[in-house]
Amino acid sequence: MYRFYCRLYQWVLKLGTFLLPWRKPELLSGEESLKKLPKLINNLKIESVLIVTDKGITSIKLMDAFLQGLQDENINFFIYDKTVPNPTIDNIEEALQMYKANQCQGIVAFGGGSPMDCAKGVGARVAKPRKTIPQMKGLFKVMKKLPPLFMVPTTAGTGSEATLAAVVSNSETHEKYALMDISLIPHYAVLDPLLTVNLPPHITAATGIDALTHAVEAYIGKSNTRETRECSKEAVKLIFENLFEAYSNGSNLTARKNMQTAAYLAGIAFTRAYVGNVHAIAHTLGGFYSVPQ
Ligand SMILES: NC(=O)c1ccc[n+]([C@@H]2O[C@H](COP(=O)([O-])OP(=O)(O)OC[C@H]3O[C@@H](n4cnc5c(N)ncnc54)[C@H](O)[C@@H]3O)[C@@H](O)[C@H]2O)c1
Ligand SMILES: [Fe+2]
Repeated sequence: MYRFYCRLYQWVLKLGTFLLPWRKPELLSGEESLKKLPKLINNLKIESVLIVTDKGITSIKLMDAFLQGLQDENINFFIYDKTVPNPTIDNIEEALQMYKANQCQGIVAFGGGSPMDCAKGVGARVAKPRKTIPQMKGLFKVMKKLPPLFMVPTTAGTGSEATLAAVVSNSETHEKYALMDISLIPHYAVLDPLLTVNLPPHITAATGIDALTHAVEAYIGKSNTRETRECSKEAVKLIFENLFEAYSNGSNLTARKNMQTAAYLAGIAFTRAYVGNVHAIAHTLGGFYSVPQ
C-alpha cells in the first residue's frame, strides 16, 4: 500500500512538473569566458556582490583575475571563503551576515558544488528572511525570487550551476538534505575550462563520476522526459570519451571543456528527472563521513 502511495505521489508530481516555469541559466562558455562576467554584473547595475568560495580556491589564487576585473568595473566585492566540503547551515548563516552587513545585491559562487550550494542557501535566506534553512528543506519551500545568482563552477561534477537543488549539511546532527525549488536555479553560469585545468586527478575522478551518476539516475528515473533523456545520453557519451583523459592529462582543454559540458547537461537532466537510490545513500554517507559523493 505504501508503495502505491509513493507511486501515486510521483505520478502527480510528474504531471505537475509540466506546469512549472522551468528555466536554464544564461551561459557564458568557452576559454576566457570568465573575463566577461564583471561587465555582465555591471550591466545589471549591481554595485556590490558577495563571493562565496572556499580556502582551496583562494589558496591557489584562482579568483585573482576575476577580482581584478570586478575592480576595473568598480564593483565592490566581499569574500566568504570558509565554505567546507558538504556546506553547513553555519556556513550559510555566516555568509548571509556578510551579505547583509555589506548591502550586497548579488551572489557569485566560485568553486565546486560546496560553494555553489552555500551561495544558493544564502540566496534562499535573503529571499525568505523569516524561514530557516531546515524550514526550507524539501520541495518548493522557497517560492520567491532570489537575488541574482552567478555560478562559476571549478569542478566538473555536481551540475549545481544548472539545478534547482542546494544540498546542505547540519554539522550537529550530520543530517544532509536538499532544498529544491525552481527559484534556486541560478540566473547565470560561467563554463570556462581554464578554471578546471589544475583540478587534482582524484577530485577530477570523483566529481566526474558524480556527473555520470546524475546522468544515469536521471535516465532511468520515472520522471524523465525526452529532453532529459537526450541530455543524459549526451552527458554519458562525453564522460566516457573525456573523463579518463581529463584525469590523466589535466591540461587537455578539450577534455576539460567536454567534462564541463557533461556535468552541466547531467545537471539539466536530473533537475527535472531527479536522482535515485545512489544519491539517497550517498547523502547519508556524506553527512556522516564527509566522503565525496
Ligand atoms: N546542488 C546540486 O545539484 C548538487 C549535485 C551534486 C552534488 N552536490 C553537492 O556538491 C558538493 C560537492 O561539490 P564538489 O564535488 O564540486 O566538490 P567541493 O566543492 O566540495 O570541492 C572539493 C575540493 O576541490 C577543491 N577545488 C575545487 N575546484 C578546484 C580547482 N579548480 N582546482 C583545485 N582545487 C579545486 C575545493 O577547494 C575543495 O577542497 C557536495 O556537498 C554535494 O552534495 C550538489
Ligand atoms: Fe551528485
